[in-house]
Amino acid sequence: MPATPTPLARFTGRTALVTGAAHGIGRAIAHRLHSEGASVVLADLDGDAASEVAAALGERTVGVACDVTDRATVDAAVALAQSRFGGLDVVAGNVGVASGEDLDDLDDAAWARQLEPTLHGALITVQAAIHPLLRSPYGGAVVLTGSVNGLAAFGGLAYSAAKAGLGSLVQNLSVRYGASKVGEGERPVRFTVVAPGTVRTRVWDDREPDALAPLYPLGRIGEPEDIAAAVAFLASDDASWVTGIVLPVDGGVLAGPAQRFDDLGARRTLTPRQP
Ligand SMILES: NC(=O)c1ccc[n+]([C@@H]2O[C@H](COP(=O)([O-])OP(=O)(O)OC[C@H]3O[C@@H](n4cnc5c(N)ncnc54)[C@H](O)[C@@H]3O)[C@@H](O)[C@H]2O)c1
Repeated sequence: MPATPTPLARFTGRTALVTGAAHGIGRAIAHRLHSEGASVVLADLDGDAASEVAAALGERTVGVACDVTDRATVDAAVALAQSRFGGLDVVAGNVGVASGEDLDDLDDAAWARQLEPTLHGALITVQAAIHPLLRSPYGGAVVLTGSVNGLAAFGGLAYSAAKAGLGSLVQNLSVRYGASKVGEGERPVRFTVVAPGTVRTRVWDDREPDALAPLYPLGRIGEPEDIAAAVAFLASDDASWVTGIVLPVDGGVLAGPAQRFDDLGARRTLTPRQP
């Protein structure tokens, strides 16, 4: 009989801040980190919903209203982690906003509406959290939620550019806060991005996300828990030699089209042209 797997407890004694934690992927990240022993600050624009998710999770949680584009509220969420749970070890910066305008419709306001929370909000979150993270006795970890849109063209100019920017951010931060550059009494902080494909959350409520399943080599769209599992890995000591990377968690969509050329009737072999 196969042995029953031991439940993972990689975050016992650690504190995590999750932004955009009231719904979807952020809520699943909060659940996963909490289930593995973390104390969790659930920060969200919708503070009431964040508090409800925290209350449903039970002890070692607190929900807080927070707008990642507003430094004061992000600073307050970090301060809450420290006052309530004694420090900060993990940050899941998970906020992203997409509205999908094409070039002709992408005015300054639409650009800012997406870039501010998605890219600048991630920077503001890191700036607020970096000093406590440097003091984490475990070695701090930041995992940002990117997207396959930051790695290939799937539409949404502003959103995709913002998500691509996260990759550069974690590369630079992983070097800046690597072992050779941190101060006395500090430990290196790791920075990574998880890049999901289509994930079943409320952002797809007005469309049928399962219609996209044929695009995915693994034959289905993602669930929030698929992304949370990868975030937990990247935030944990299992990834202690991983930093500065973007990890696609995408059912294989970036590997290539699920419909192969020969499925579509294209030639199976390339025959050299006869002279
Ligand atoms: N769902 C997908 O298909 C998909 C695919 C790739 C990447 N993503 C990314 O995953 C992340 C989560 O998306 P989701 O699908 O779970 O969305 P969601 O709408 O279900 O959840 C997003 C949460 O972020 C909160 N939020 C929005 N703006 C905020 C702000 N300025 N400050 C604090 N909180 C804010 C919302 O209140 C909400 O609770 C985003 O970064 C998104 O870009 C989603």
